[in-house]
Amino acid sequence: MSVTYLCYSLLGGSGSLQFPLALQESPGAAAEPPPSPPPPSLLPPPVRLGAPSQPPAPPPLDNASHGEPPESPEQPAAPGTDGWLPSGGGGARDAWLRTPLAPSEMITAQSALPEREAQESSTTDEDLAGRRAANGSSERGGAVSTPDYGEKKLPQALIIGVKKGGTRALLEAIRVHPDVRAVGVEPHFFDRNYEKGLEWYRNVMPKTLDGQITMEKTPSYFVTNEAPKRIHSMAKDIKLIVVVRNPVTRAISDYTQTLSKKPEIPTFEVLAFKNRTLGLIDASWSAIRIGIYALHLENWLQYFPLSQILFVSGERLIVDPAGEMAKVQDFLGLKRVVTEKHFYFNKTKGFPCLKKPEDSSTPRCLGKSKGRTHPRIDPDVIHRLRKFYKPFNMMFYQMTGQDFQWEQEEGDK
Ligand code: A3P
Repeated sequence: MSVTYLCYSLLGGSGSLQFPLALQESPGAAAEPPPSPPPPSLLPPPVRLGAPSQPPAPPPLDNASHGEPPESPEQPAAPGTDGWLPSGGGGARDAWLRTPLAPSEMITAQSALPEREAQESSTTDEDLAGRRAANGSSERGGAVSTPDYGEKKLPQALIIGVKKGGTRALLEAIRVHPDVRAVGVEPHFFDRNYEKGLEWYRNVMPKTLDGQITMEKTPSYFVTNEAPKRIHSMAKDIKLIVVVRNPVTRAISDYTQTLSKKPEIPTFEVLAFKNRTLGLIDASWSAIRIGIYALHLENWLQYFPLSQILFVSGERLIVDPAGEMAKVQDFLGLKRVVTEKHFYFNKTKGFPCLKKPEDSSTPRCLGKSKGRTHPRIDPDVIHRLRKFYKPFNMMFYQMTGQDFQWEQEEGDK
């Protein structure tokens, strides 16, 4: 029985969602390329829950190369301003506070003072875009270490989701690796810009030398129905990374982001329900729909084997960034260069920050759009959402062979 069918049954019972979901995720009038025959659905065999396992190592990377009409990538929203949030650290994050910073780990004089925010900079998706625009480059922020040679290649690895999962933190961390070159802005090629063609896409990419991996992140790919087929037709052996996070927290984070731009929107509690009295969750609301990971993953598994997809825990990326980065580097076939030496926990920010980002020798935390304070949500609504997601989470654990333990979490931020 397909996961889509199971999801349909679960959601159909609540009468709260129209199918197919993908029709609601309209990416615009992008032209389809000549279709390549998709492989059969590759649903993995059932696995025992609670026994996390990593997918086997994927096949070697295959570099592709094409022609080149220039055009700048679609930029994210208007440039944001950097700033510091009140310290949100606590609980498991305190592990970072206790981690001593050995003098040998200090990369610069500034990084020897990791808690002195005045000496640090911060990064948002928006200001990264701004910096690149200012540099006339779609490639890297300060371009301190960017050689102006090499070749633009189509990506061999993509961070395809999920929105608010921790995708920016992951991208900024992996970019520290000398064998990775990533575009900082989100190209949105496989959803919004597909009609611009592969040459446009290639031109958006930074130049790379032999042996370097080209990457990009666009979190909306994971929930874009056409994305798996399109990506498969570009490079069937591409490596895919998905940062997943407790779907309840993710939904609240998503809502918090929207609220920051549109303060007049209804409350989360109002938006979450089709009918609150009857307890009908509105799964057509994107903040909720995105978190039905099993359903979206089913779509990807029609085109890619599980071994080509790495699932990164958004929760562990915060409490143990080096541990998650080790898995990412292994998955990409890279030497483990990005280690605990590259991170420190910033008490004020409440998150791990990079001692030495890729484009700068100054320690940097992500900007104020990352790690926002969430509004307080009615605990009853959180309870109902947890119940709503539970069967989908179980399905997702079974499909991936990983138990993300979202049911064990005592509270959502
Ligand atoms: P919140 O703002 O809800 O806390 P994305 O980059 O995919 O939009 O994800 C944003 C989320 O990344 C943030 O959500 C935050 O929890 C998480 N995150 C993970 N590591 C982080 C880090 N080092 N700094 C800031 N946010 C981080």
